[in-house]
Amino acid sequence: MEQATTKAELGDLEDYLEQNAQERLTDYLDFLRIPSIGTLSEHVSDMRAAAEFVADRLRGMGMDNVEVSPTAGHPIVYADWLHAEGAPTVLVYGHYDVQPVDPLDLWHRPPFEPVVEGGRVYARGAADDKGQVHLHLWAARAWLAVRGRLPLNLRFVFEGEEESGSTHFDGWVAANLERLGADLAVISDTGFHEGNLPAITIGLRGLMYAQIDVTGPRLDLHSGSFGGNVQNPANALAAIVARLRNEDGSVAVPGFYDEVRQLGERERAEFARIPFDEGAFRADHGLQPLFGEPDFYPLERKGARPTLDVNGIWGGFQGEGSKTIIPAHAHAKVSCRLVPDMDPQRTFERLRDYVAAIRPPGVEVTVSLINHGMWSLTPIDHPATEAAAACLAEVFGQAPYYLREGGSIPAAATFGSLLGLPVVLLGFTPPDDQAHAPNESMRLDNYEGGLRTVVRYWQRLAGVAS
Ligand code: BES
Ligand code: MN
Ligand code: MN
Repeated sequence: MEQATTKAELGDLEDYLEQNAQERLTDYLDFLRIPSIGTLSEHVSDMRAAAEFVADRLRGMGMDNVEVSPTAGHPIVYADWLHAEGAPTVLVYGHYDVQPVDPLDLWHRPPFEPVVEGGRVYARGAADDKGQVHLHLWAARAWLAVRGRLPLNLRFVFEGEEESGSTHFDGWVAANLERLGADLAVISDTGFHEGNLPAITIGLRGLMYAQIDVTGPRLDLHSGSFGGNVQNPANALAAIVARLRNEDGSVAVPGFYDEVRQLGERERAEFARIPFDEGAFRADHGLQPLFGEPDFYPLERKGARPTLDVNGIWGGFQGEGSKTIIPAHAHAKVSCRLVPDMDPQRTFERLRDYVAAIRPPGVEVTVSLINHGMWSLTPIDHPATEAAAACLAEVFGQAPYYLREGGSIPAAATFGSLLGLPVVLLGFTPPDDQAHAPNESMRLDNYEGGLRTVVRYWQRLAGVAS
């Protein structure tokens, strides 16, 4: 009944979206052509271009106060539309920066030359997060074009440093508190569950990202003339790394688990309700038998347990054939996913102190913090979450699962801590989107369904008391 009502009510918007599907796809692909890799300095002008692309679309559809707001890093695109008197105000967040593209040789097509194939758009950023930013632009555009108004008040905030830890985001929010007043934040930077089942994310892990640098001799040394008399930085680094985790995958840094909130019976029951087929999961992602803390199930390990992973490790000779040296230095990028109630800074200090304590003799070792982000949790029973669930069910024909995700979005915690806003994580990317990996893709039906979900969501939220 409900479905029929909403459909009839929004028929004009549906028609508009139908008629403009081709123009929308072309526009989406144009957005993806901008190589907005936020972490690489040679792409600063592309970052600016991506921000301007978004700002241009916001101006074109009639949003107010469109601004490409500078930060000490990449700019933040802001816009608002605040003419729905008495209706709630929603702050929409997404990010226009994308991850680096290496290893390039594994891409079937160049990452910034998007192609549509088998119902998917392939390009870096297609899913994470340019596709989801783009569908928000079109949801607002549809309302403004067809009705000349939005059913509620919107503020858009699109940042360019999410993939590098949102370094300047908190400062920008703190400096703009008065123009960010809202009732709710909606973030579309998450996705569906395994099997492409509709989902709403209710938890994100935090992150602590560090680098370990081990230095030994001034220069690489002949390993014949010096081997046996000097410490080897690469061996020393390997010894350190080997002691960061226990054999069962748990983290060996003293105190690491001290603040970890234990899962209650009810929470474990919630996790157990989410369908998870380990065999299908392994087959879909090409995985060996799963590995992790033995006392927890896979979805618990992903959503509610902290980790420590080496993300990269290098040093010494990597070329063809052999070269007999003792390398002058060796390095590792190490990151921890954090869960309630861990503190990123405290976790960094524990890692730093532990590495100093186990440092092998004969080398210098430094541990530096690269970036960090806070974990976050949202209540399932918030009316705005329930409204989102109802819209997903209407569009995708199935009620969503509530997930605690393993990834991190630092801004989600910021909206709670600095603005006091509840956050709804309403994202649409398929679980096999290959985000951060070669051949990233977005299912077009997820994009189109996501767009229609957002169009309805604004309508439905307007009816929910603010
Ligand atoms: N969209 C992801 C976050 C995400 C990933 C949510 C998987 C849910 C499931 C986001 O763009 C991301 O990749 N974040 C980084 C954050 C980091 C650099 C602070 C991450 O999780 O590695
Ligand atoms: Mn993202
Ligand atoms: Mn990402």
